[in-house]
Amino acid sequence: MSDFVKIERNGAVLSITLNRPDKKNALTGAMYETLIEAFNEADTDSAIGAIVIAGSGGCFTAGNDIGDFLSNAGSEMDQFPALKFIRRLAILDTPVVAAVQGVAVGVGTTMIFHCDLVYATHSAMFRMPFVDLGLVPEAGSSFFVPQLFGLQKAGELLLGDAFNAEEAHRLGVVNAIVGEHELQGFAMERAHRLAAKPRNALAATRRLIRGDRDALLARIDEEARLFGRHMRSAEAQNAFAAFMQKGKSK
Ligand code: COA
Repeated sequence: MSDFVKIERNGAVLSITLNRPDKKNALTGAMYETLIEAFNEADTDSAIGAIVIAGSGGCFTAGNDIGDFLSNAGSEMDQFPALKFIRRLAILDTPVVAAVQGVAVGVGTTMIFHCDLVYATHSAMFRMPFVDLGLVPEAGSSFFVPQLFGLQKAGELLLGDAFNAEEAHRLGVVNAIVGEHELQGFAMERAHRLAAKPRNALAATRRLIRGDRDALLARIDEEARLFGRHMRSAEAQNAFAAFMQKGKSK
């Protein structure tokens, strides 16, 4: 259980807040494990009908902790909590509402493709910087992005161009842009609406909307295989070290 993830019940809604603001809510292995536990709880407890996921300190998340990438490069990819988290998220039955403000980088962007409803403030900034880090896309983003936006747009987004809340809304990745002060309440209200719907029909409909689950899981595994290989490469290790060094030289 990580102290950097806050989990609260709000009636039938499980509220998950990434709570490591001094590191822009970058996700550690322990945080992923806690998120997995929360997803398991939501799917097994019939009193929970929806999840809201948000970040604290004015940002969503800066993605995977880059220090963890450096220290875990020798581990087997299958053991990575990040991969277990992604696989678990991809087969979650409970609907998820994301409330995004500030940076949503790496898995901060890719996880929203798995969410049902996404609300963002004008401060939201999305980016998938995998290639710049010597990595490849993850969390099924190489499956979703070309399918949703076409090959050329994928050539921008999956190769690292940042996009703001307006563009995310235009692309359909964000349902609505809401004010900073309204965000949490707005997302919570939408989650309560989902939680009030018939649970089994909602889960079945989510599956239909999301399409071929086996194909998605196969792509997630293929991405993970490549991700693991590239993570050990000199270009990735140098990029991680450069990022960690930047903090020290400030
Ligand atoms: N992993 C580990 N630490 C991270 C982090 C990450 N993904 N993202 C931010 N941090 C840390 C910084 O090292 C810094 O720590 P410090 O105060 O001890 O030096 C702190 O969080 C604040 O980040 P900082 O870079 O100073 O904030 P910023 O507002 O200038 O920039 C970002 C915010 C998100 C644009 C920038 O931190 C960034 O690019 N992070 C890396 C994102 C990334 O590549 N994620 C991995 C994707 S696979």
